[in-house]
Amino acid sequence: MKSENEPGTDLSLRRFIKSLGYIAGGTAILSMAPWLVSCTQEKLSEIRGGQARIAVIGTGSRGQYHIHNLLQIPHARIVALCDDYAPNLDAASALVPAARRYADYRKLLEEDDIDGVVIATPLNWHARMVLDGLSAGKHVFCEKAMARTMDECKAIYQAYTHSDRVLYFCMQRMYDEKYIKGMQLVHNGLIGDVVGMRCHWFRNADWRRPVPSPELERRINWRLYRESSGGLMTELASHQLEVCNWAVGRMPLSVAGMGDIVYWKDGREVYDSVNVIYRYSDGVKINYESLISNRFNGMEDQILGNSGTMDLTKGLYYLENDNSLSGIQQLLAQIKEKAFEAIPAAGPSWRSETKKEYPPHSIVEGRVYVNPGQSTVGVDKDGSDVILSSFCQACITGEKARDVVEEAYCATLLCLLANQAMEEGRTVIFPEEYRIPYMKF
Ligand SMILES: NC(=O)c1ccc[n+]([C@@H]2O[C@H](COP(=O)([O-])OP(=O)(O)OC[C@H]3O[C@@H](n4cnc5c(N)ncnc54)[C@H](O)[C@@H]3O)[C@@H](O)[C@H]2O)c1
Repeated sequence: MKSENEPGTDLSLRRFIKSLGYIAGGTAILSMAPWLVSCTQEKLSEIRGGQARIAVIGTGSRGQYHIHNLLQIPHARIVALCDDYAPNLDAASALVPAARRYADYRKLLEEDDIDGVVIATPLNWHARMVLDGLSAGKHVFCEKAMARTMDECKAIYQAYTHSDRVLYFCMQRMYDEKYIKGMQLVHNGLIGDVVGMRCHWFRNADWRRPVPSPELERRINWRLYRESSGGLMTELASHQLEVCNWAVGRMPLSVAGMGDIVYWKDGREVYDSVNVIYRYSDGVKINYESLISNRFNGMEDQILGNSGTMDLTKGLYYLENDNSLSGIQQLLAQIKEKAFEAIPAAGPSWRSETKKEYPPHSIVEGRVYVNPGQSTVGVDKDGSDVILSSFCQACITGEKARDVVEEAYCATLLCLLANQAMEEGRTVIFPEEYRIPYMKF
């Protein structure tokens, strides 16, 4: 019998498959997460001891994070590294000394001994590199968001639909066990009808990185400038909006919002505070908020149903009419109710509607990893390792990922439309020319 740590056995994928299996029972899970079709023991065995030859383009923070994960994937071998900023290329080379080094990604794409490329460059480079990668015949894994502009997203989508290559975008929540299981409960009706969604991401950090000399400012701090970044929407909200689309299986029709630079007035061009509302055709709304000068509220992806709430980030759910209150909690609740009744109320009710304490229920057993929003090598269990491993598997089998490109396209378009709505100060209707057959409104 094969031992678990024998070469060719991907522990992260195998554990992932095992953990999904006990709740899902195969087909049920595939109807709400079709991209998991390749995540079965049978599909994993198609690797047959093979190794995908991988190149990493963009070896900064996220690129190095992926390198650490790739080094743990037995069916992957890093053969080349590319970065046009020498200190970051050097840092990556120190992790993989045997890999060849490139400053120009186009030279790397000419090489025949590379099956797949992992792209972790700033957003404004994604489209060019993905398109060049596909036309060079490489399988491509690119970081989110899909691209800097809607036209670039469309070009990628069209190139992909005409390509036989595999393409992934790193929307890791799609491969995160607590999201998958939570979503299955939503789809099975546990929280009733989805009547709203509420996502936010609060941090207290400026996003600014130290720059060794002034001419490197826009390169190193690319996140802060509009030519290279869609700000909070593409950097943070893209993950969360994908979750909303996944929950309801359709797209909002319109978006309105306000964006400002409230606190970090340091020459940046992207908002440090955004409040956005998306509206579906039936009036259901996504309320999205992000602020990076106060972290009190943390990060949450909440699906609100008329019978309960799915708090996916924490791996918890709450029911509106919960009978599982402990005896003492029930007693306290009764006393509280009586106390309110006893107070003579004249005129309009004054009773404040503060947040009720619902007993939490766990979506998954055991300890839930809550991503603080940073890429923490070796600590994250947010699906990033699994989606990457799945890509490497696909580099060997040639199996395209179901719906991953489509989900990334939908989420990125929603981010870019929100930026447009905030910049123009108006409600933006989802434009006809960017609709794809996958979208339901
Ligand atoms: N999925 C996630 O949770 C997650 C988390 C963090 C970052 N990201 C994404 O990863 C990407 C990279 O982010 P980061 O924080 O690592 O940025 P970074 O600035 O740390 O790294 C980007 C690297 O790309 C290099 N680069 C830029 N232009 C290049 C070119 N033309 N050729 C070769 N190399 C080039 C830079 O020199 C740098 O080393 C972004 O798209 C970001 O949104 C995703």
